[in-house]
Amino acid sequence: MDMDKLVSLCKRRGFLFQSSEIYGGLNGFWDYGPLGVELKRNIKEAWWQDMVRGHDELSTPAGAPEAYEMTGLDCTIIMHPQVWKVSGHYDLFCDMMVDCKETKKRYRFDQIKGRWATAKGKIAFVTSVAEDVEADIERRALKFFDLRAKDASQLEWQSELLSLPEGLKLSNPPVKVFIEDPMTVESGEDPEILVDDSASEMTDVLAPEAKTLGMLTRPREFNLMFKTIVGAMGTEEDAAFLRPETAQGIFVNFKNVLDSTRVKVPFGIAQIGKSFRNEITPRNFTFRSREFEQMEIEFFCHPNASRKWYEYWRDRRMKWYTDLGLAGERLIMREHAADELSHYSVGTADIEYAFPFLPEGEYGELEGIAHRGDFDLRSHMEGKLVKNAEGCLEVEMVPVEGKPDKMRPKHRGSGRDLTYRDEVTNEKFVPHVIEPSSGADRATLAFLCEAYYEDEQPDEKGEMQTRVVMRFHPRIAPIKAAVFPLVKKDGLPEIAQEIYRKLKAKFSAFYDEKGAVGRRYRRQDEAGTPYCITVDGQTLTDNTVTIRDRDTLEQWRVKVADVVEEISKRVL
Ligand code: GAP
Repeated sequence: MDMDKLVSLCKRRGFLFQSSEIYGGLNGFWDYGPLGVELKRNIKEAWWQDMVRGHDELSTPAGAPEAYEMTGLDCTIIMHPQVWKVSGHYDLFCDMMVDCKETKKRYRFDQIKGRWATAKGKIAFVTSVAEDVEADIERRALKFFDLRAKDASQLEWQSELLSLPEGLKLSNPPVKVFIEDPMTVESGEDPEILVDDSASEMTDVLAPEAKTLGMLTRPREFNLMFKTIVGAMGTEEDAAFLRPETAQGIFVNFKNVLDSTRVKVPFGIAQIGKSFRNEITPRNFTFRSREFEQMEIEFFCHPNASRKWYEYWRDRRMKWYTDLGLAGERLIMREHAADELSHYSVGTADIEYAFPFLPEGEYGELEGIAHRGDFDLRSHMEGKLVKNAEGCLEVEMVPVEGKPDKMRPKHRGSGRDLTYRDEVTNEKFVPHVIEPSSGADRATLAFLCEAYYEDEQPDEKGEMQTRVVMRFHPRIAPIKAAVFPLVKKDGLPEIAQEIYRKLKAKFSAFYDEKGAVGRRYRRQDEAGTPYCITVDGQTLTDNTVTIRDRDTLEQWRVKVADVVEEISKRVL
């Protein structure tokens, strides 16, 4: 599938627009248009219905160790700043970035790719961030060494394609950077950076769009949380952050949910909401945005049962996507290797989709299912946790200011008791957590990519035309049915409007009486409407209408009185 065609359809038909487009847009922010908002809302509602509201807590679902309960939350975007210190986001939620002194552009350190090359007695690590990276590097290398295409043989490649960090490792150790307070980077100050500056090859790097060597700064940590100020004083003490994940709202409300409901372990708390990450390089349409929506579940279970629950949620979440039409080879489950896992985790799996903007054979993450042990609840009780020499989690301690021999927790927890007591066995424990965490925008993008389809169909004159059709699963289709009077006379519009109003009372429907009926069908095909209903001359004699199926193009007649039931049974 050609991504450019999908992007242009999204704009033309009102699925997605760039945010603030009339002012030139804002990178990493996207607006959903009239069709897009319905699509995304249907995806979120399908998730909420299948995971939370429609969950049957009285029976054991296939593959689950036992029956369980599900409940929901809707937490604030701005939370107490201590939440992010304790969760580790304040210290660790960073990307390494480099700035180009010549072009004033900023790049993620690991996203710059390059090759070492020599010619005319000079050496350079020629880099690029272009999509056609290899070709771009070759073009830039010829230009840099002042060689014409016919003299390309003078250019000697000294390495394969490498990321910049890999490239620098070739002859010297990588740059080691430590920033005292990562937040100072965002305020524009030059933070104190302790650098093992042996990576002098940085001076031999030709930055992605620069003309001269050595224009990249040393890598620095860049915290991805958006900072804001709460209240009118505007001091540093009033600084707060926009949440980078919805999960923490669930953990800090764990006790509130237990105390206000009768839920018992095992149970899950779900939340859908906006998250914000100041991504250095937002890219690939909505795939990596700075403002996006997450659909997260934190599932609390007994530590001994956590492996079985992890396996259940991994398979349950994969099935959810396939049931809604993301089937076939483009959807995969990737289990993280044992050495990629935190020591407390029995598993992490990513559900990935082969987005068309990725190179052949590469997949992008739609959802991660992680076994998080008791890390989160313990952190919010005790304080920020780190691994000790034995690999066990303990509270991170730092010396007290002015008293270097006395230690205090680096970031204090709430001190609240977040343990759970089993009423039957009287056992007290910190529940383990399984976290299926998915992105509503990435899911929407995957469903858009999967739905895009072209075929050849004859037009009114019998000439073959390319038909673009969005083959959404009826549950998520933005419009479920469209109603057309064949002509604008003989009472046909009145009958069609009556049917439209009855459909509209149950789900999204569309009424259209403009233009040739073939063109009206094609507009609905592009919107992904599964059924079109046409009122024609025969309706006046036998009170029936035609229903046309978007995918099979099959047409059949039903009584006007049966239309709502006929469509409902197919789309709900
Ligand atoms: N609480 C765990 C967590 O947030 P994550 O892997 O960082 O885990 C979960 O994010 C999901 O959120 C991802 O699988 C993806 O679908 C979505 N997501 C993360 N960053 C995103 C971004 N910049 N733009 C769009 N979606 C994003």
